[in-house]
Amino acid sequence: MSFPLYAPAEEHDLLRETVRALADDKIAPRAAEVDETGEFPFDVLKALTDADLHAVHIPEAYGGAGADALATVIVIEEVARACASSSLIPAVNKLGTVPLLLSGSEELKRRYLSAVARGEGMFSYALSEPEAGSDAAAMRTTAVRDGDGYVLNGTKRWITNAGVSEYYMVMAVTDPSAGARGISAFVVEKGDEGFSVGAKEKKLGIKGSPTCELYFDNCRIPADRLIGEEGTGFKTALATLDHTRITIAAQALGIAQGALDYALGYVKERKQFGKPIAEFQGLQFMIADMAMKLEAARQLTYAAAAKSEAAMHGEKVKDLTFFSSAAKTAASDAAMEITTDAVQLLGGYGYTRDYPVERMMRDAKITQIYEGTNQIQRMVMARQLLK
Ligand code: CAA
Repeated sequence: MSFPLYAPAEEHDLLRETVRALADDKIAPRAAEVDETGEFPFDVLKALTDADLHAVHIPEAYGGAGADALATVIVIEEVARACASSSLIPAVNKLGTVPLLLSGSEELKRRYLSAVARGEGMFSYALSEPEAGSDAAAMRTTAVRDGDGYVLNGTKRWITNAGVSEYYMVMAVTDPSAGARGISAFVVEKGDEGFSVGAKEKKLGIKGSPTCELYFDNCRIPADRLIGEEGTGFKTALATLDHTRITIAAQALGIAQGALDYALGYVKERKQFGKPIAEFQGLQFMIADMAMKLEAARQLTYAAAAKSEAAMHGEKVKDLTFFSSAAKTAASDAAMEITTDAVQLLGGYGYTRDYPVERMMRDAKITQIYEGTNQIQRMVMARQLLK
C-alpha cells in the first residue's frame, strides 16, 4: 500500500499558515465568548466561508476547494487550535456530505454539494437516537414509501450543528424486518414540513456548536432524496465514519496543540522560587511527554488521512477502518491528557476561566465520546485485527 500525501507537501504547509493567520485574527479572539455565551459563531462561519475554508473537502467539480484528506485535517486542526466549537463547521460539513460523495446520485451531489460549497447552508449528520447510541443499528426512526415520496417519523439525538444547518443526512428504517440491512439514508432540508429541531443540550464543552434533537412528525420528502439504494444506509453511515473519525482526530490534535502552546508560553513567564517554572525538571518532563503524545497521534492521523484519500479515489484500502478508529482514539486520548496537564501546568490559574486551558480541557472530552466512543473504536479495531 502506498501512502500518497502522507507527509505534508509545501502547499499543505502554506495552507496551515493561511488558516492559522485567519484563526489568530478572527477565531481565537472569539473563543472564550463563544464558550461563555453558548452562541453559534455566525461571524466565524462567515470568515471561514469568505476564505473558502468552511467545507474544503468538496471536490472542485461541485464548486468546492477540492482539498485532499490531509489538507482537510490541517484546516480542522488549525481552527480547533483556536476554538473547538468553530472547528465543527468544516468537520461536520464533511460528516454530513461524505454519504453523498460515497453513495449519492450525480444529481443529488450536484444539488447539495454545490450548495454547501457556495456557503448556502451547512450539512449535519443524523444517526444517533435516544435508544440507539453505540448500537446505532437499533434506531427506530422510520421512513415509509408513499407515492412519490417517503414519510419520516421519529427522533434523532445528539445532532451537531442542529438548527444552524440547512441540510441533514438522516438514517431511517425502511424495512423493520431486515436489521442493519433495512436502514436507508436520506437528505432532509430544514424547511421540510414535519421536521423540527429541539432545545440545545447544556454541555460541558463545545458550547458554541448547538447539539439538539431532531423531530420527524409525518415529515414528507421527495423520493429522490434517498441516497443510493434502499437498505444501504447503514453501510453508507459506517463507511462515512471511516473517513470522518479522522476529522475528529484532527479536532483533538488542534485542541491539544492549542493547550500545549499556551502552557509553553506560560511556564517560561511564570516565576516561582526565583526562576521561571520551565526550569524545573518535573515540568520539563511533563511538557516533553505532552509534545511526544501529540506528535505520535498526529503522525497516525496523517497516515489515516492518506488512506482515506486513497479510498476516496477508488483504491481498496483494507485497513482504513482500523486506521481511522486508531487515529481518533489515539488523538482524543492524547488531547484529554495534554489539556489536563496544561491545566496542571498553569496551577490555580489554569482552573479559572481567565485562561483558555480549562475550556480546552472541557472541549477535549467530547472527542473521546462522539463519532463513536473510544470503547466502540477499540471494539472496531479488535474486530479488524481478529477478522
Ligand atoms: N464500512 C462499511 N460497512 C460496514 C462497516 C464499515 N466500516 N462496518 C460494518 N459494516 C457493515 C457490515 O459489513 C454489515 O453489513 P452486512 O450485514 O451486509 O455484512 C453491517 O455494516 C452491520 O455491521 P455490524 O454487524 O458490524 O454492525 P453492528 O450493529 O455490530 O455495529 C458498530 C457496528 C461498529 C458498533 C457501529 O454501530 C458503530 O460504529 N457504533 C458507534 C456509532 C457511532 O459512531 N455514532 C456516531 C454518531 S455521529 C456523531 O457523533 C457526529 C457528531 O456529533 C460530530
